[in-house]
Amino acid sequence: MSRRRIIAGNWKMNKTPSEAVELVATLKDLVKNDDVDVVYCVPAIDIVPVAEAVKGTNVHVGAENFYIEDKGAFTGEISAPMLKDAGVEYIIIGHSERRDIFGENDILINAKVKKAFASGLKPILCCGESLALRKAGTYVEWIKRQIKWDLTDVAADQVKDLVIAYEPIWAIGTGETATADQAEEVCGIIRKTIADLYDDATAEAVRIQYGGSMNAGNAAELLAKPNIDGGLIGGASLKPDFGQIVNA
Ligand code: PGA
Repeated sequence: MSRRRIIAGNWKMNKTPSEAVELVATLKDLVKNDDVDVVYCVPAIDIVPVAEAVKGTNVHVGAENFYIEDKGAFTGEISAPMLKDAGVEYIIIGHSERRDIFGENDILINAKVKKAFASGLKPILCCGESLALRKAGTYVEWIKRQIKWDLTDVAADQVKDLVIAYEPIWAIGTGETATADQAEEVCGIIRKTIADLYDDATAEAVRIQYGGSMNAGNAAELLAKPNIDGGLIGGASLKPDFGQIVNA
């Protein structure tokens, strides 16, 4: 089975609304590729102008965060129906920055995955180990556990539409990329974990990205690996280099 490649930018807390529209214009011709799903995951305040700016192009809009209730007294939060109405298709869940800086745990992350599917948003579920776990050699157990916890009570037909991003924390924003072999090892383990939790067809369908200092120079080698179906790109998604990654 051939899986469609998915290259997503994670803009993080960068770009004001007017800068966001400028970046969309800069990247417009560079990210053209009919064989790849291209997604811009942008700050909440940029969603409406970015959705407008990408109309008629091959780019899909994603969000970086949401809360699990539809509406109500949740000061500062934004809901799945709000994102849907604004044109959002993808939602990043479980990014290590949300886990580490904002204290999100696997119970909340699992609830977010379920809510996203129930609301018609496609989750990009992030997992990954710290440098300490990598050095201790326990990273495989850690990743398996994250996947199992975060997908509790998620059905196989939903998991077929899931995107999982393997992002070793030691490689995020550090310039230190996992080697293609290191990334492929874990992405293969993630696929095997899905096969064990569900079945082979589900494991074949799920798309797995690598993320962590992916750039124009290393993308082709990473994306050539059989279990790496795309990338979740932070720093390099804010530059024309992103076009080279889409077309790597
Ligand atoms: P990076 O970020 O590409 O800047 O390392 C990736 C991410 O955090 O999604």
